[in-house]
Amino acid sequence: MGRKVYVTRVLPHAVMEELSKVCEVSANEATRPATKEEILAGVKGMDAIVTMLNDKIDAEVITAAGPQLKLIANYAVGYNNIDLAEAGKRGIHVTNTPDVLTNATADMAWALLFAAARHIPAGDKLVRTGTFAWAPEFMLGADITGRTLGIVGAGRIGQNFARKAHHGFDMKVLYAGRHPSPEFEAQTEGRFVPLEELLRTSDFVSLHVPLTPETRHLIGAKELAMMKPTAILINSSRGPVVDEKALVEALKKRTIWAAGLDVYENEPDVEPGLKGLDNVALAPHLGTATTGTRYEMGLMVVRNVDAVLNGQVPPNKVK
Ligand code: GLV
Ligand code: GLV
Repeated sequence: MGRKVYVTRVLPHAVMEELSKVCEVSANEATRPATKEEILAGVKGMDAIVTMLNDKIDAEVITAAGPQLKLIANYAVGYNNIDLAEAGKRGIHVTNTPDVLTNATADMAWALLFAAARHIPAGDKLVRTGTFAWAPEFMLGADITGRTLGIVGAGRIGQNFARKAHHGFDMKVLYAGRHPSPEFEAQTEGRFVPLEELLRTSDFVSLHVPLTPETRHLIGAKELAMMKPTAILINSSRGPVVDEKALVEALKKRTIWAAGLDVYENEPDVEPGLKGLDNVALAPHLGTATTGTRYEMGLMVVRNVDAVLNGQVPPNKVK
């Protein structure tokens, strides 16, 4: 069996070393995402391809690779960038990198929550570029400890975030999703509620759903209007889960108080209206971006590639 693997973007050095021990690697060496043309050329004749969350792996790419393609290994937990139906039809495995990135991504949601609640971006800018003086009502933020947190999507990351909220910050946890999760409740004392109730009663709403046709624009003008005027929205899942234009309007009109975003509807573009607002904390899709996490994600990719090239079912096959 062939062992040719194309990587759409060079992974951390130690990961590339491990990968080259199990297969014959070619990679897009550019310090930017591969273009569609580069991907179409790069995948040709490959047994496996390692892809990034910003590569659209559609029928055209899968066809360009050829019938020997056996694996699409995504270097991410989310796999909305891959045409699963097309891969499935051709018996191609698709894998992701769950679990190893749960803490890092939940931690990033916390960073955004703190940043948005306590004016960290505006405060940082002021210290660097202006002057400040302590005053009784200077840059007042939102209380966090003891408040109500609404988690939309009770998967691994949502549960991890909520567990930290419950144990670390005494927060009352509500959650909404497709079905109640006894494990989530055991870890967080969270209460399963309809999305509408969650939006109406939470002080913080944090999104942890995968991007699917059902979750696209899950949070739009109507949902934002249900939220408290003092509420803060955190999105570290996928940009299109929120209607970004509606969010800009809601932040401008103070329909909600603030937001913290790590993901955007049309990455790497950011809705221009967001950039001028001081009640939103913006991060450049850094959820999994820690040295340790990116290394562990890489080792997971290597194990999946190695398994498939040895004729086995990969350990992190997505459903
Ligand atoms: C990050 O966004 C991921 O899906 O891993
Ligand atoms: C992804 O890892 C999730 O289940 O939140």
